[in-house]
Amino acid sequence: MPAPPLLIATTNPGKIREIQYVLAGVPRRLLTLADIAPIAEPEETGRTFAANAALKARTYAAASGLPTVAEDSGLAIDAIAGRPGVESARYPGDTYAEKFANLYRELAGHARPWTARFVCSLAFIDDQGTSAPAFVTEATVEGEITDEPRGAHGFGYDPIFFYPPYGCTLAEVTGDRKLAVAHRGKAFRAFRTWLRDVPF
Ligand code: IMP
Repeated sequence: MPAPPLLIATTNPGKIREIQYVLAGVPRRLLTLADIAPIAEPEETGRTFAANAALKARTYAAASGLPTVAEDSGLAIDAIAGRPGVESARYPGDTYAEKFANLYRELAGHARPWTARFVCSLAFIDDQGTSAPAFVTEATVEGEITDEPRGAHGFGYDPIFFYPPYGCTLAEVTGDRKLAVAHRGKAFRAFRTWLRDVPF
């Protein structure tokens, strides 16, 4: 019997790379949005990562008819009340260099260390998107915002996210070292473990 499909509902290439890495070997045929007919991206109206993850899973499961896993993630900085938070992708700046400059402007005047965390909420829907997610989880990684961006690995805010146990930013380590400790790695490993026990 062929493995059942699993749609990974994101268009972010950095996320896709990380999710495919963690889910490699699960008894599912991994699909991304590039493999199926185009689906209009839903507006992320949720006020929490969990609400947006469920919203995306529901939208893409309903439109595709496929079992769908979605995630919502972002950077929460304590000194600025958890922002950019769910707005991380939409934080002002056309490039990440501009976003970093805008964040440094906001952080100027706030006492260091600028403690922060990445958050990843995951939701999996196994039917047409009509019922509540069959599996949800949320994971974080704690760190600090650096004085200046460092490193060329990863994506998004990784160059300004200092991870104390490694003594460097998450953009200064290889993808597997990031995933071993970071929010998305933890959330998708929990999902992988849960999937193993689901009959299909
Ligand atoms: P969304 O989940 O599509 O709303 O976008 C999440 C945004 O948060 C990304 O576009 C990045 O800006 C940021 N983000 C989430 N996870 C990471 C990460 O692992 N590294 C760096 N930035 C991240």
